[in-house]
Amino acid sequence: MEEKVIDENRQGEFLMVENSNIHKGKKLLLESYGCQMNFSDSEIVASIMSEAGFSTTRDPEEADLILLNTCAIRDNAEVRVRGRLNYFKSIKKRKPEMVVGVLGCMAERLREKLIEEEKLVDLVVGPDAYRDLPNLIDQVDSGQKAVNVLLSREETYAEITPVRLDSNGINAYISIMRGCDNMCSFCVVPFTRGRERSRDPKSIVAEAHDLFNQGYREVTLLGQNVDSYKWNITSKGEIITEGEPTVNFAQLMEMVANVSPELLVRFSTSHPKDMTDDVLHVMAKYDNICKYIHLPVQSGSSEILKKMNRGYTREWYLERIAAIRRILPTAAISTDIITGFCGETEEQHQETISLMAEVKYDLAYMFKYSERPRTLAERKYEDDVPEDVKSRRLTEIIDFQLKCSTENTKNYVGGTYRVLIEGASKKSPDFYHGRNSQSVVTVFPKGDAKPGDFVDVHVTSCTAVTLIGDVVAHYPRTSQPS
Ligand code: SAH
Ligand code: SF4
Ligand code: F3S
Repeated sequence: MEEKVIDENRQGEFLMVENSNIHKGKKLLLESYGCQMNFSDSEIVASIMSEAGFSTTRDPEEADLILLNTCAIRDNAEVRVRGRLNYFKSIKKRKPEMVVGVLGCMAERLREKLIEEEKLVDLVVGPDAYRDLPNLIDQVDSGQKAVNVLLSREETYAEITPVRLDSNGINAYISIMRGCDNMCSFCVVPFTRGRERSRDPKSIVAEAHDLFNQGYREVTLLGQNVDSYKWNITSKGEIITEGEPTVNFAQLMEMVANVSPELLVRFSTSHPKDMTDDVLHVMAKYDNICKYIHLPVQSGSSEILKKMNRGYTREWYLERIAAIRRILPTAAISTDIITGFCGETEEQHQETISLMAEVKYDLAYMFKYSERPRTLAERKYEDDVPEDVKSRRLTEIIDFQLKCSTENTKNYVGGTYRVLIEGASKKSPDFYHGRNSQSVVTVFPKGDAKPGDFVDVHVTSCTAVTLIGDVVAHYPRTSQPS
């Protein structure tokens, strides 16, 4: 998952919900932080709250209820939320009847402590308890504090139709699974999101169909480790219901790709230990499955990877990269890297740089290691790389990656790429922006095209990360948004 992207582009968005019954007239302000899965969860929350009668506001002054859907992945993610809670504290002093709730991973991690520490928090709800929100709000309205942080082995919110928040009507997320069973030693997610469970493929395909019929042209299938998606089969390979088909990730992706050749399919996140050639072959078979793979490596050192409990070595990872290059020669590859993990030596840091040089990533999300309570690394290893060394190593890998990204971007100049138009370019209003299959942002003059149309763009120049070109063919959206 790409927390950094969200941080920069979507952090603190104010989200809209429709109106209906028992809490009719009440106003909700919903803010989301963290990864795409959290933003996708907010769309479930919005649906539940809309059913309960809330309408939305962007103005904290007129909100009856403020919900923060939070992230706990690194300490700084939590610091940001605490800052926001302090801001709401000042408003609550003037408006004591306003209810403030914390949802998501920080709620799950800190539980009752949030109510004790942050005196203004009335409501704490973990990621598997959102159906209970209306009851919990009633409880708060009757003068009590309310907490539900129960994690579930089954909950996938499969039949809840998300309310698409802040949507352009073109791109949408579909959660295909929840939780994570991997236990990477640095990671808080297994504690905040619970056990891995996959969602019924029928409900996933139905959601993709509905989105397509509403005019959407791209879906991103979301999970912490999409390659371990499985339906009707246990991790030991036992069939759960005889006579029902089993579905793995490669098969699920094929089912979604078959919804329409005009519906682009993306996915995140792949795990190097589980990514199969089957997935790559399905990607190669369908033009509408985008040729972009986010394959977090975390470190280039096998020793560090072992301490991270990632389940693969440097060599295994590079073999997976070779498989991508072999089966999908045009694919772009991005990654996540943690620098300064417990005991990381200068040589091990150099191994990460040499791996980056070998792979030549198109994009990387890079982080300083942040020790998280309860994780294996916190219990077993010392967070002993000094802060200034972590910072210096992070700067080194960021600088190195910038060079790779710039080189890779240049390679697209002179080519022609199919692009889904997502909207007007922020910098130049006479231009549209979209992304090519490899997810590189592409801008071009508007002409008579519209957002949601496909165009072929001949790329004539570029900046470090953006392609600039001209439309050479235009394919209007076949059905207009309903
Ligand atoms: N499920 C995804 C990652 C989810 S978290 C995967 O396995 O790849 C997104 C990224 O945050 C991780 O890939 C990792 O690079 C980073 N991250 C997770 N825990 C971290 C920590 N304790 N300190 C710094 N970065 C961390
Ligand atoms: Fe965290 Fe590892 Fe699971 Fe990703 S695969 S969410 S890094 S435990
Ligand atoms: Fe996502 Fe942050 Fe939770 S990255 S899963 S919101 S800890």
